[in-house]
Amino acid sequence: MPIIAPSLLAADFLNLQSECTMLNESEADWYHLDVMDGRFVPNISFGPMVIEFMRKASTKTFDVHLMILEPEKYAEQFKNAGADILTVHIEACTHLHRNIQQIRSLGMRPGVAINPHTPVSALSDILHDIDLVCLMSVNPGFGGQKFIPFTLEKIKQLRKMIDEKGLQVHIEIDGGVTVENAPSILAAGADVLVAGNTVFKSADPIGTIAQLKRCG
Ligand code: DX5
Ligand code: ZN
Repeated sequence: MPIIAPSLLAADFLNLQSECTMLNESEADWYHLDVMDGRFVPNISFGPMVIEFMRKASTKTFDVHLMILEPEKYAEQFKNAGADILTVHIEACTHLHRNIQQIRSLGMRPGVAINPHTPVSALSDILHDIDLVCLMSVNPGFGGQKFIPFTLEKIKQLRKMIDEKGLQVHIEIDGGVTVENAPSILAAGADVLVAGNTVFKSADPIGTIAQLKRCG
């Protein structure tokens, strides 16, 4: 079954505690936490302080997606806030290999995210150093956007690269994931589904998470 990672970006921030309780009671595996700096992406979300509060309300894996420039300046703060997985953008890192080593040396699992325009081949020389690839299926910065269909082709290419190298790297799909398109995303070779609006704007979030879990 796939790993389900609801994106808290779509949560009700006035009622974060009850959103966390809902996720804890659900079949969600990870909390997907979207950090935006208003520089790498044209939006600002939340940072380590909010994550630290949520950490107190959850024992699940914290999957932190940094959409920020100079992530090396903040990696330790995110570790202290409770991040288990720390994902940086290939487009935001001049010294990606160094950033990955830093994340691992801080005791977190490193991930690399790529924007829709970045080919998966750009990951070829870093794949063996990371635990997760976050394939953006929308342009990062906002929740509630439409899934870009070409992502399915990229998932297949990446699945092939990972299998040929004999690696165990998660393929996480982020943006516009729905109960309707999840089966084709999983069939193409992804194993982690991020879902913001699909989960939090649902009349029955726990039921929707259970549905996503059984989409494979
Ligand atoms: C977009 C974020 C996503 C976003 C997904 O920049 O990285 O994680 O929250 O939201 P939905 O699932 O609503 O497209
Ligand atoms: Zn994200």
